[in-house]
Amino acid sequence: MGKPKVVLGVSGGIAAYKACELLRRLTESGHDVRVVPTAASLNFVGEATWAALSGNPASTEVWESVHEVPHVRIGQSADLVVVAPATADMLAKAAHGLADDLLTNTLLTARCPVVFAPAMHTEMWEHPATQENVATLRRRGAVVIEPAVGRLTGKDTGKGRLPDPEEIFEVCKSVLARGVTGPDLAGRHVVISAGGTREPLDPVRFLGNRSSGKQGYALARTAVARGARVTLVSANAALADPAGVDLVRVGTALQLREAVLKAAADADVVVMAAAVADFRPAEYAAGKIKKKDGQEPAPVVLVRNPDVLAEISADRAREGQVVVGFAAETDDVLANGRSKLLRKGCDLLVVNEVGETKTFGSEGNEAVVLGSDGSETAVPYGPKEALAEVIWDRVALLMEARRA
Ligand code: CTP
Repeated sequence: MGKPKVVLGVSGGIAAYKACELLRRLTESGHDVRVVPTAASLNFVGEATWAALSGNPASTEVWESVHEVPHVRIGQSADLVVVAPATADMLAKAAHGLADDLLTNTLLTARCPVVFAPAMHTEMWEHPATQENVATLRRRGAVVIEPAVGRLTGKDTGKGRLPDPEEIFEVCKSVLARGVTGPDLAGRHVVISAGGTREPLDPVRFLGNRSSGKQGYALARTAVARGARVTLVSANAALADPAGVDLVRVGTALQLREAVLKAAADADVVVMAAAVADFRPAEYAAGKIKKKDGQEPAPVVLVRNPDVLAEISADRAREGQVVVGFAAETDDVLANGRSKLLRKGCDLLVVNEVGETKTFGSEGNEAVVLGSDGSETAVPYGPKEALAEVIWDRVALLMEARRA
């Protein structure tokens, strides 16, 4: 099998320079990339850069190499088309089927998955015209990544930034791996909690846990690639912001509960991948706790935290809402998982075995997905993204069954 063929469409925004990094990631990971810039984008990054970095000619117009019929051939032979950055103008053209240059022609002839990574000023992104174009593209099966919030061109700050190229690359990888299956979570709002909560003792100390947040972040990335609107409630994870998610940062279990309940109000799915502390110190010392010579330290008194998973499972904010929990077990993994599934009242429980060297912070995971219907799906050791895909497959089946 040859290298997967990727078309990188670049439209005319300042973020075009970030597409160079995306191109580098794609070529270095074994993709054959053909860059199709718009004429306007060449004001930001020139043709020579694209040709040199991709190893392929980078043409703008349908009038070059006409004998090769590029306006049809490039789109037809692609395995993935990614447009980054996608300007408001490009989204409008794509939504309306205009075809006045090579990139827009390519979009019309492509039968493979298409990813748009928009970047523009907040006003342009929020304008009803753009929002309707985005909705149209999504309805037709394209993955349109929500822009990031942050510094824009000039002095402005807001929603409209192109997400980190590394993270756009992750979305592309997931979409490519799924092939023509299509974004089956389109139109769904999924809420994912990730990381580990920290319960403060005083301004400098806390009780925490070893959860890295990687499994929750992998769930967020794969859900974006499957077309979902994603709210990621992140507790103390030191990881790059995934592209296209609405990120809510929290510290403690109580903060996490509040953020998850708020986001769950209109969610189709809630996945509790975070390691939530079961207990918190009964008292918080406003000043740093000092050691005193000749005195034993005072015991730390703990109180229970609310169980967020049990709460949202018992009191679903929406009819048919799917709730997924995680369980980290050290012994009797399956038996403990089954009884925890019952106790928590969720639909699916992802059980994995943990230990000093297992799972925490590692790149891979091995788990069993237990269903309240008695189902059991074993997922062999592999990347956390692979487990995430299996979880979404199970979730998609449940949603389908509930809709029927
Ligand atoms: N969880 C939660 N709120 C808590 C504690 C845990 O929502 N206060 C969620 C976690 O996000 C995870 C699941 O519950 O999805 C399992 O957590 P775990 O700590 O394994 O469950 P416990 O009931 O605490 O079981 P154990 O007695 O084994 O500690």
